[in-house]
Amino acid sequence: MTRLIVVSNRVTPPTADATGSQGGLAVAIGEALRENGGVWFGWSGQRVPEFTGQVNLQRAGGVTTATVDLEEQDVDEYYNGYANKTLWPLFHYRIDLTEYDRSFDAGYARVNQRFADTLLPIIQPDDIIWVHDYHLIPLARELRARGVTNRIGFFLHIPWPPMRLLATLPRHKELVSGLFDYDLVGFQTHEWLEAFCDYFQREADAEVGDGVMSAFGRTVRIGAFPIGIDAGAFKEAAKSAEALAARERMRESIAGRQMIVGVDRLDYSKGLEERFLGYERFLADNPERCQEVFLLQIAPPTRSEIGSYQEIRNKLDALSGRINGAYAEVDWVPLRYVNRGYPRAVLAGIYRTARLGLVTPLRDGMNLVAKEYVAAQDPADPGVLVLSQFAGAALQMPEALLVNPFSQEEIAEAIAEGLGMRKAERIRRWEALMHNVESCDVRRWRDDFVAALEAARLPVAMRPPA
Ligand code: ADP
Ligand code: F6P
Repeated sequence: MTRLIVVSNRVTPPTADATGSQGGLAVAIGEALRENGGVWFGWSGQRVPEFTGQVNLQRAGGVTTATVDLEEQDVDEYYNGYANKTLWPLFHYRIDLTEYDRSFDAGYARVNQRFADTLLPIIQPDDIIWVHDYHLIPLARELRARGVTNRIGFFLHIPWPPMRLLATLPRHKELVSGLFDYDLVGFQTHEWLEAFCDYFQREADAEVGDGVMSAFGRTVRIGAFPIGIDAGAFKEAAKSAEALAARERMRESIAGRQMIVGVDRLDYSKGLEERFLGYERFLADNPERCQEVFLLQIAPPTRSEIGSYQEIRNKLDALSGRINGAYAEVDWVPLRYVNRGYPRAVLAGIYRTARLGLVTPLRDGMNLVAKEYVAAQDPADPGVLVLSQFAGAALQMPEALLVNPFSQEEIAEAIAEGLGMRKAERIRRWEALMHNVESCDVRRWRDDFVAALEAARLPVAMRPPA
């Protein structure tokens, strides 16, 4: 049987009670690997004075994790630097926040080489290797240079930016041509896949065929593989004793009010500032109703060594204080703003308690919170999902109330519409949403990608030169 090796920047072993700002990738990989087993390789999250290349192997929750520690300079230049000061903002359309620095390029290349060196001894001839996300674009090139001929697939969890934005990145072609060393490159949606094809057609005269693209004398398979959640497990988690206890704990303080919930890593791409302003507009426009409602925003800090993340945190601290200062009463606070992580069952209980889920990223590869909110609802009395039209999930979830997250008015109107929606309409929309969440779940995502990767060996005539 072929063994699956998953490679991602950071390895977060899957545990049922995981708390924290895990991010969609960790949650999805954890869930996907827990079932079939395999190896998950990546950074331990630990920093050491000097890189040793020592691999720490552990078994947790049915999954073997293989982790390496990185040295301080690696974390600065590769993780905080090229990955999260350069690629993340650029791929989320924020060239205003994008930093270009040659030391970042060097650190990014070095860590990808170090990953290749330390992964190499673990690889067996029949393994298939599945590399995740923007941190590791050059990894296949590094592995091929070390003689690896196994099938290697790449999945991008974030958007692919428009060609003219990507062209602002120094040596962009050198970076992204590395994707042609993979056998299969996958995206969350057709929108990002189209942007990818457009870039290579314009910049490299690529030829696009049925699920394949050729450029630089190479051919790679391409496709859209929308990520999902473990819908069944999340549905059950929302009914668990832990979820029930969380609901019970909240009941008293809710005091019959309608709760709106937002759950996001504290990232500028999540549109939290715009969301708070939209909610403030709702409060201003609905003085007679506003005290019957409150917003619970859970936003665990993430990447806090980076200036743009410190700035968004400061802005939200100030904005939440201002909104509460302006609107709170002695017995009511309009905005509960919480900067911490919760176990998944508790989160599920919180989603189920909320009449409205507010998911309004300015740009998002997919967004799993939208799917989790739907999966956690009570089928007999479900809440309403308000979803950004710029999240990948919007393409799969048209029955949500879709909004432009840059418009305070649209957010305010959607809140009012969602809170006032009649039960029959809520059930109709929820059933359609849930159908999608259940049919496009994490198993399908994994199985479709892995099957495509297994089938991805190109006919001999089309293989890249050795
Ligand atoms: P991203 O990958 O950009 O963080 P997603 O919405 O796709 O965005 O995934 C976020 C994941 O992180 C979800 O599974 C969500 O439940 C989890 N998460 C976010 N905030 C918290 C929190 N405070 N506690 C526990 N899990 C969280
Ligand atoms: O899902 C996008 C992503 O960047 C993942 O690659 C990452 O695991 C997650 O968000 C959380 O980010 P970080 O590991 O930087 O906290």
